[in-house]
Amino acid sequence: MRKKIIAGNWKMNKTPSEAKALVAEIKEKVAGATCDVVVCPTAICIPGVVEELKGSNVAVGAQNVHFKESGAYTGELAGNMLKEAGVTYVIIGHSERRQYFGETDETVNLRTKAALEAGLLPIVCVGESLTEREQGITDDTVRRQTKIAFLGISAEDAKKIVIAYEPVWAIGTGKTATAEQADEVCGIIRETIAGLYGKETAEAIRIQYGGSMNAKNAAELLAKPNIDGGLIGGASLKAEDFSVIVEAA
Ligand code: G3P
Repeated sequence: MRKKIIAGNWKMNKTPSEAKALVAEIKEKVAGATCDVVVCPTAICIPGVVEELKGSNVAVGAQNVHFKESGAYTGELAGNMLKEAGVTYVIIGHSERRQYFGETDETVNLRTKAALEAGLLPIVCVGESLTEREQGITDDTVRRQTKIAFLGISAEDAKKIVIAYEPVWAIGTGKTATAEQADEVCGIIRETIAGLYGKETAEAIRIQYGGSMNAKNAAELLAKPNIDGGLIGGASLKAEDFSVIVEAA
């Protein structure tokens, strides 16, 4: 049985003081969680959030990682820096990074390998656009994204990776995929992993759903066999809503 994992992707929200206040609320509300709980603040908030969460059951994630250990990459953060700062997970390949910051399937693979090298646990995002869904190429899209993301990664390391299926058309729109749609695509992703590594690895890897998951729809989504958790945007910025989702896992 795979342990569920609920991660909050805060995106570009909360000042350092607001972030500490929010995690102080969250850690109280999720203290009894039976799933893995992660919060992913902006980089500037990480030190304060790590400090506030010391001794709690909540892990800290980053929202991106560079594929080099150091160098002339203004604005970027390396895996070793995040690791030393107390980060455990790192979101890679979010659709917003693909849309606004030139992220590609190939750079997702480079960042994933760098994250593993630094001892971080990648949360690798895949998902189709509305156009791709309307064209009926959702399966092809997530298969391609998954295969390229995992290029050159061992079965042992693959099991450390969490995959987040986030249909782009459901992100921030309130238009959540139905539980059946989400489970079907997560099943396609799991089949793709089976094709790369075999059934044992495919059964071990955790696949989250992300895209307007909230306190109301979380239980139905999380009850699906191929959905092992959620990558939560808006609802993760409210301690009460986030804790309801954690409770449902
Ligand atoms: O990474 C999670 C995010 O893309 C989902 O956002 O606001 O639709 O839950 P939201």
